[in-house]
Amino acid sequence: MDKILVHGGVRLKGDVRIGGSKNSALPILAATLLTKEKCVIDRVPDLSDIHYMLTILGRLGCEVERASGVVQIRAEKILTEAPYEIVRKMRASVCVLGPLLGREKAAKVSLPGGCVIGDRPIDLHLKGFESLGAKVVVKGGDILLEAKKLQGARINLRGRHGPTVLGTGNIMMAAVLAEGITDIEGAAEEPEVVDLANFLIAMGAKISGAGTQHIQIEGVPELHGANHTVIPDRIEAGTFLVAGAIAGSRVTVTRTNPAHLGAVITALKKAGFELSHTSDSVTISPNGSRRPLHIETLPYPGFPTDMQAQFCAMLATMDGTSVVTETVFPQRFMHVSELKRMGASIDLNNHCATIHGVERLSGAPVMASDLRASAALVLAALPADGITEINRVYHIDRGYEAIDEKLNALGAHIERVKS
Ligand code: UD1
Repeated sequence: MDKILVHGGVRLKGDVRIGGSKNSALPILAATLLTKEKCVIDRVPDLSDIHYMLTILGRLGCEVERASGVVQIRAEKILTEAPYEIVRKMRASVCVLGPLLGREKAAKVSLPGGCVIGDRPIDLHLKGFESLGAKVVVKGGDILLEAKKLQGARINLRGRHGPTVLGTGNIMMAAVLAEGITDIEGAAEEPEVVDLANFLIAMGAKISGAGTQHIQIEGVPELHGANHTVIPDRIEAGTFLVAGAIAGSRVTVTRTNPAHLGAVITALKKAGFELSHTSDSVTISPNGSRRPLHIETLPYPGFPTDMQAQFCAMLATMDGTSVVTETVFPQRFMHVSELKRMGASIDLNNHCATIHGVERLSGAPVMASDLRASAALVLAALPADGITEINRVYHIDRGYEAIDEKLNALGAHIERVKS
């Protein structure tokens, strides 16, 4: 397993180009199953999660071609079964359920396994499929969906922890080929849901309200091929802004969409950083005096759970006491014990971390546990004393395109040790 060594004590400066959004690209690639015609998807990031999705699509019978960020997919004849050995590697594999059900009225996909950021049920996805008229059976570790026909319905997708992002996508993808009108209440408002809706509309679907809590879909008999460019990854952009906050003199994220970064920009400004933006870039400067923060993660447009770990790393070395409350995935605090190994002072109480800022962290061997937690450890290591050895970096490669190379181009000193 590869590991990375972060030599601490650096200062970052310069511009970094943001890639296409992983969380948009995954369901959009799955949505190509909805048509027999060729789809061309541009700005697909080069990440292991994307590779898993393309492997699943290949196993389902799609012809897949990929060249420098452009993926061409033709799902002329498809199978409806996705076996455990490929599905288990990525929880987002569940987003083939919606398109398979929509097009073939049948799907057999293994239930995704456990996840380190906590229990991640898919009850809301299944409830939505049932409302559309599918018979849902969970048996022998598989989810089996079957329907004679799908009928539009009124579906409330709001769960105990708020709306579901992939659940909203899954129901949209099934409902576009259902008969009649589907009304989704409590829909996720994330930009990735809007991006998926825009792709489906380009394929001929009739969808309105994406980006609000109420999405309406009027089923159509079939969809056609389409071209689409994936939106910029707002979590990658946010992560590099926090890198600038932690170890920067002036860092600019380019090819991004500042409108998608509202809550992150607001939080960084509240913490005392100076931020400015153009139509497609955001710059952070370390001017001004630092202030501790109280943050609560929330569904979009609230503060994203996918930025929580990176902010914990930043707040660990800022004066004063900050409080970070996680409401979306209450158990998502695996990074806290690793940050403490580096000298952070953090009290964890249920879904709330109280962070007492210390002057400096020190390098230590630490373990990457999940995607964003791993990014947080890299960020924490940048200004730390000495070398931080981060093991199990495959987690970080799931969601960040060459994060080590991009940070090195800004002035970091990170080595990747292949094993
Ligand atoms: C997506 C993102 C992930 C992000 C998350 C929340 C992708 C590939 N992943 O994950 O990076 O952290 O949104 O912004 O897009 N829930 C249920 N029942 C369900 C589904 C979800 O109770 O059927 C709960 C979850 O346990 C969680 C909350 O709802 O507490 C939100 O989860 P959800 O929005 O579904 O996350 P994902 O779509 O899986």
